[in-house]
Amino acid sequence: MKRSNAIAAIDIGSTKVTALVADVNEYGETRVLGVGVAPASGLSRGVIDNIQSARSAVAMAVEKAEQSCGMRILSAVAGISGGHLSSQNNRGIVAIPDRTRPITVEDRERAVEVAGQISIPTNRQIIHIIPRGYWIEGSDAASDPVGMYGARLDAEAHIVTGAVSAVQNLTKCVEGAGVQLDEIVLGSLASALGALAGEEREQGVAAVDIGGSDTAICVYEDGAVAHTATLPLGGAHLTQDLARLLRCPWESAERLKCEHGSALAGAEPAGAAEEVEVRAFGTNAEKRVAVSHVADILQARTEEILEMVAIELKRAGYLDRLAAGLVLTGGASQLRGIADLAELRLGLPARTGAPRGCAGLTEIVATPAYATAVGLARHALRESAPFHQPATARQREGEAAFPKILNRLAAFGRAFIPQ
Ligand SMILES: Nc1ncnc2c1ncn2[C@@H]1O[C@H](COP(=O)(O)OP(=O)(O)OP(=O)(O)O)[C@@H](O)[C@H]1O
Ligand SMILES: [Mg+2]
Repeated sequence: MKRSNAIAAIDIGSTKVTALVADVNEYGETRVLGVGVAPASGLSRGVIDNIQSARSAVAMAVEKAEQSCGMRILSAVAGISGGHLSSQNNRGIVAIPDRTRPITVEDRERAVEVAGQISIPTNRQIIHIIPRGYWIEGSDAASDPVGMYGARLDAEAHIVTGAVSAVQNLTKCVEGAGVQLDEIVLGSLASALGALAGEEREQGVAAVDIGGSDTAICVYEDGAVAHTATLPLGGAHLTQDLARLLRCPWESAERLKCEHGSALAGAEPAGAAEEVEVRAFGTNAEKRVAVSHVADILQARTEEILEMVAIELKRAGYLDRLAAGLVLTGGASQLRGIADLAELRLGLPARTGAPRGCAGLTEIVATPAYATAVGLARHALRESAPFHQPATARQREGEAAFPKILNRLAAFGRAFIPQ
């Protein structure tokens, strides 16, 4: 595949900013051509709180990705996350005036558009309207109604909304780093796209991305997005607990967690040391800490995170309907024993999910911490069904839908120029 078909994706997390350049190889895999990672700054709980710092972090990640693939990134899709996001499902009904003709693509789009019409306050905007399913004459479910006959078409959509200010800050931050923003995609949706198998999506699954400051959930049922949510705990809270309870600096707590930590006491590999040395406050000497004590501290907080996930899934009515259980992504899902603890506490199958179907630079990106970035790239490569551009967003931009589409198609062709 020609390099001009490459796209770029930017995942702005609370711990790291990742810029990816990817195309599709001859096997249909997402081939990563370049990657740049920069430590996050200017973010609090996934939301930009210092635009200059966040812009510098994005610019650094973009520059590193450009150097890694030898191409200039002119435009990209970016992920959005944070507690300001919310979601709901809604139905829309349209009449088909002439029942002697088959249902058209326009009818289907009209039904989704109606399903996406919800009233929201002026400080919020629609980010996605994702079709979930269609019904003809109120009862016959159709995976795609186009070409079928009926006098009435119902569509159900999953609608994601977010704070206008958060969207504006994200846009300014990416554009300030010299990159045109093609599209904003919900981070948890991207993680699910990166890590889930088709069969899991059909049978019912929750992709749970445990990042630095947040845990983002995306539930799939019958192959469609059913529920999304963001919960305010993540890997940084695990580090914070270690730092407080062992009275050590953040950096040594972070290293201790990643190198010797586990979510389940006794999950350490055979032959692992029983005690480790940690640099602590108040003394120049290193302090010896029992690995089982570290695991006890981490287990308590990990159980709280998993409990919160269970409460959210139960509240939304999906806890008993997930045959494929949980797929854990995000940096903190690399904590040893976390999938076993999830199985134990939620009584559901659980696995850690590195991005699937990707090639190129896999030693970096084929780990759970890059599921969001790979999912964003996969969405941009149009391997997934495109999300609907909400009418409210088009109106807000003061543009007609048509020029916007043309702009995007044009942007696709010139997303990259060789350096
Ligand atoms: N091997 C490991 N074991 C345990 N935790 C880890 C490991 N590697 C990274 N982490 C943790 O993963 C977290 C960062 O995850 P990730 O890179 O997915 O965050 P992010 O995308 O920047 O944040 P967010 O999605 O919350 O905005 C940090 O808390 C880090 O300590
Ligand atoms: Mg993340």
